[in-house]
Amino acid sequence: MRITVLGSAAGGGFPQWNCNCANCAGVRAGTLRAKMRTQSSIFVRPDDGTDGVLFNASPDILEQIRSSPVMQPGRHLRDSAIAGVVLMDGQIDHATGLFMLRERNSKLPLWCTDPVAEDLTQGNPVLRVLTHFCGVDRHPITLDGTSFEVPGVSGLSFRALPLSSKAAPYSPHRDNPVPGDNIGIVITDQRSGRSAFYAPGLGEISTPVFDEMMRADAVLVDGTFWTDDEMLALGISKKRAREIGHLPQSGEGGMIDWMAKLPPKTRRLLIHINNTNPILDEDSTQRAELTRAGIELCEDGMLIQP
Ligand code: MLT
Ligand code: MN
Ligand code: ZN
Repeated sequence: MRITVLGSAAGGGFPQWNCNCANCAGVRAGTLRAKMRTQSSIFVRPDDGTDGVLFNASPDILEQIRSSPVMQPGRHLRDSAIAGVVLMDGQIDHATGLFMLRERNSKLPLWCTDPVAEDLTQGNPVLRVLTHFCGVDRHPITLDGTSFEVPGVSGLSFRALPLSSKAAPYSPHRDNPVPGDNIGIVITDQRSGRSAFYAPGLGEISTPVFDEMMRADAVLVDGTFWTDDEMLALGISKKRAREIGHLPQSGEGGMIDWMAKLPPKTRRLLIHINNTNPILDEDSTQRAELTRAGIELCEDGMLIQP
């Protein structure tokens, strides 16, 4: 399989429009060695295929499509390599890009869980609004461990896992989580048997989640924050990382600790990186610590072949 990282930043992107933290100001001024990033999304296609699956539709999707030639194969007057969209949650940074796909000439095939479909019909009625444009052909994602396929994308199968993270702020279950608010996905290439685990929002690593990470050839997981109090320390927010559904990398029980237990051959990648995270600075001690631990940062445009 081929995974193209369309966007590797958390909500807000990097730099964030209204932010002048050291990272955002530094990358804007060109004084910091760091790469700009759009909001998190990946595109996955089989090795021998053109059409693939878009995981999350970020508000930056139009820019992401423009800068990734694989997204526009140009076979017809109106065309796209996107055979279907899979949502990991209903958050703004993962779902509002659906509006940008409204010019399709057929219903947009969309896979999401029931709680996410509900949030995107009620609290943030993206799916209802889209009925006035291309419309959506929605397929439920179940959490019973069954795999699904996306028509037009042969040889890849997908399986969802409920995660402990956070529903969007407009969701009635923001503070009373229900299974399916956030999912991780195991992507399996049926021909090669290779697999990847994708979870851009991951608040806690449960046993079933860690079992999947152990089995995967590559993990692309939550890279939002370095410390639990990252935004508090900067005076940007009163919320801790874990409170908003993101496991920090550093400290006891952080993502680095978990990744250290993975088999040596597993490719370890962080995605959904917040603009405040010191790992974005390529010269930071935190970045060096990740490199020593064999952990990579996803970058926009990166191709991953697990
Ligand atoms: C998150 O991942 O916590 C959210 O996407 C934050 C946001 O709404 O930007
Ligand atoms: Mn997010
Ligand atoms: Zn910033």
